[in-house]
Amino acid sequence: MTSKGPAAGAPAVPLHPDPEWDALCDSELLPELSHAFGGPYHLLLPHRFDANVAAFRAVLAELDVPGALHFAKKANKAAVWVERCAAAGIGVDVASAGELQQALGHGVPGPDIVVTGPAKADDLLRLATAQDCLITVDALDELERLLAIAPPARPRVLLRVHPPQQPASRFGLTGPEVERALHRCTRAGAALRMEGLSFHLAGYAVPPRAALAAHLIGVCARARSLGLPADLIGIGGGFPVDYVPRAAWRDFVAHQQPAHYHAGKTFHADDFYPYHSPTPGAEALRALLSTVPPGHHATVAEQVRAAGHRVLLEPGRALLDRAGCTVFRIQGVKHRPAGDAPPGRPGERPAAYGLLTVDGTSLSLSEQWFNSEFVPDPVLVTPAGRARPGRPYPACVVGASCLESDVLTWRKITFPDRPARGDLLVYGNTAGYQMDSNESSFHDLALPPKVVVESIADRPRWRLDRRTPH
Ligand SMILES: Cc1ncc(COP(=O)(O)O)c(C=O)c1O
Repeated sequence: MTSKGPAAGAPAVPLHPDPEWDALCDSELLPELSHAFGGPYHLLLPHRFDANVAAFRAVLAELDVPGALHFAKKANKAAVWVERCAAAGIGVDVASAGELQQALGHGVPGPDIVVTGPAKADDLLRLATAQDCLITVDALDELERLLAIAPPARPRVLLRVHPPQQPASRFGLTGPEVERALHRCTRAGAALRMEGLSFHLAGYAVPPRAALAAHLIGVCARARSLGLPADLIGIGGGFPVDYVPRAAWRDFVAHQQPAHYHAGKTFHADDFYPYHSPTPGAEALRALLSTVPPGHHATVAEQVRAAGHRVLLEPGRALLDRAGCTVFRIQGVKHRPAGDAPPGRPGERPAAYGLLTVDGTSLSLSEQWFNSEFVPDPVLVTPAGRARPGRPYPACVVGASCLESDVLTWRKITFPDRPARGDLLVYGNTAGYQMDSNESSFHDLALPPKVVVESIADRPRWRLDRRTPH
């Protein structure tokens, strides 16, 4: 009976090389913060956010498309992103009264805020109207409620269109509802300002977004024919992030199988976020604006310019690309020896592997809560910096709770050497949706603090994020 050897199995899925993050991993900062907080924490790099904003703006300028950029706040709760939005003069997309208060409180003026989300609560509609925010109306009854609540203020309104490409979507107004909403806005006269139409598509493909953008330009023409201003085309978010190299992602998707995971867990390739993208972030915007949608003779950019529109963007994940990481300390290493082969399958003896228990839970790595897994490999950091190649050791990563399901990484990652208690695990590129959408003080564990790292006088300095407590 032969073992496949401890390192056999799951292919590596490393993040793209990133010298700045590598230097942080090799510095004194990480173990010091781990000691100071006594639990996991998140690191945030605001200059990376600024660079992503600049890249989106550069594409709009290059293609000569008037645009308004709004950071989708739901992707990360830290105040520092909103502070950077205010400093850069871009807007914020919020979907709750709490998010709206945070955006206003950290310096973004109401007119630069777009309020999305379905069936918004009356208090949110009131506050948004009072602050002159742009309100995305998702249903006819919501429009009626807004018209009842708003006077004497005149709310600024976008109508959210139901995407025909995703008929099961619960969001937006269907074609006939849009027509009724346009007539209702016309009848409302000066009681509201109808500024345009919007959509947000699930998934990351460019062609359906380009097709829907062109469709919206057509609906705006209809709105204008009814006397409504309708200048804005809101194309939502969904600009992909390129986490890992193409070959690594291709091999992972082709070969991943239950034997690569703790407890033989099964994931289907479709369960995962597409961690590689050939046209990520601002490049996806360029591709979208440069597309000639089927049945049209001009690119989306040309159509937008010809109609005198402005494009409203709401990227979340893409503005946070490479702008944050999450650090856990290993509290225990449990070794699971090689198992017996299942009857009749002598070549399939499961190899030995480790279970690394960290000082927090999978609630601080949210992907796990969507029947999925954050795939990019965490980096093992020893007291002397990033682990050097030694005896490769496969291990998965589990949380400090009493739940079998509290697993941060089910996949048996091949670490360059055997991890030890006290080493750190750094999950990179986690600022987009991983850090806090599911955070919980379950087991009375403290919420991981967010640490902002800035370069001041050429020296890296850290401070805690200034999010206002509720
Ligand atoms: C209305 C709206 N805008 C923007 C976004 C942000 O999407 P992403 O972070 O993929 O760019 C979302 C995400 O669900 C959304 O619902």
